[in-house]
Amino acid sequence: MSKASRLELAERPRRNRKSAAIRDAVRETRVGPEHFIYPLFVHAGDDEIPIASMPGCFRHPLAGLLAEVEKAHAVGVRFIALFPAIDDALKDSTGTESYNPSGLIPRAIGAIKDRFPDVMVVTDVALDPYSSDGHDGIVTPDGRILNDETVEVLCKQAVCQAKAGADIIAPSDMMDGRVGAIREALDDAGHTEASILAYSAKYASAFYGPFRDALDSAPKSGDKKTYQMDPGNAREAIREVSLDEDEGADMVMVKPAGPYLDVIRLVRDNTELPVAAYQVSGEYAMLKAASERGWLDERKVVMESLEAIRRAGADIVLTYFARQVGEWLNG
Ligand code: PBG
Repeated sequence: MSKASRLELAERPRRNRKSAAIRDAVRETRVGPEHFIYPLFVHAGDDEIPIASMPGCFRHPLAGLLAEVEKAHAVGVRFIALFPAIDDALKDSTGTESYNPSGLIPRAIGAIKDRFPDVMVVTDVALDPYSSDGHDGIVTPDGRILNDETVEVLCKQAVCQAKAGADIIAPSDMMDGRVGAIREALDDAGHTEASILAYSAKYASAFYGPFRDALDSAPKSGDKKTYQMDPGNAREAIREVSLDEDEGADMVMVKPAGPYLDVIRLVRDNTELPVAAYQVSGEYAMLKAASERGWLDERKVVMESLEAIRRAGADIVLTYFARQVGEWLNG
């Protein structure tokens, strides 16, 4: 290049991108299996049941669940979040099956901890998989969701999970005061070591659609807008997070993740606690569907979506891609 055509630039940021070695050395955000919580669905039957709107995800029988945990563990995934598909016959209006000590979740926790003692088991606290109404809380005949009565049941559910060996209790129900009540119930039952990962800023999102198909847990009537947050709100996330912090949460969560990166950043900047973000079923479904059609490069968009969530400030990411990413990075 002739001297005349050379720009006199004091700074040339491209120098820090000129080789893979430099790019790797200066990368600000890293994504690896150590950051992941892997959500898995379990049911009481014997078959692997594919979930149509979540290609590659299944309702696992207990044996299949263990096989999946083994594969994920082998590539460095150390956290599993369990979600149960409960037989309709066991559902009722107050979710009594949610604290059955020999129920599906306690059995699944026991089986995982037996075989993989170092895998951290995260359990969901909410009534929707157990509720004949498909809501996270108890519903009155005129359609209201009862807060305090629900919290009482959630405490029993949390203690039941901790007793079965859950390492991290994750209330996703969005009732007021449940983190404090659950902390007290766990401590009173001697489970001071059980952590609480609070779904603090959980939005009333249409991106949960495939998950509700997976568990057959969609609300029978109404929606979840009186307890889950309005997608238009960000400041309110700070309020929810600081309440959960005061009530004893060990970690807080923003959910969904990709469409709420601003909220992840806001929460990151307003709490000292570790922040988790949930790349939910609808985010997974979108990436899968476009990749299956050849419209997007699956590996590249999955990695980029996870990098974006981490860059926004998430320490931990719940993702259905956890095992897949572990395999890519180990392959
Ligand atoms: C239920 C629960 C939901 C999800 C996690 N826990 C659904 C809901 O709130 O309706 C959604 C996860 C996903 O979409 O991947 N308390």
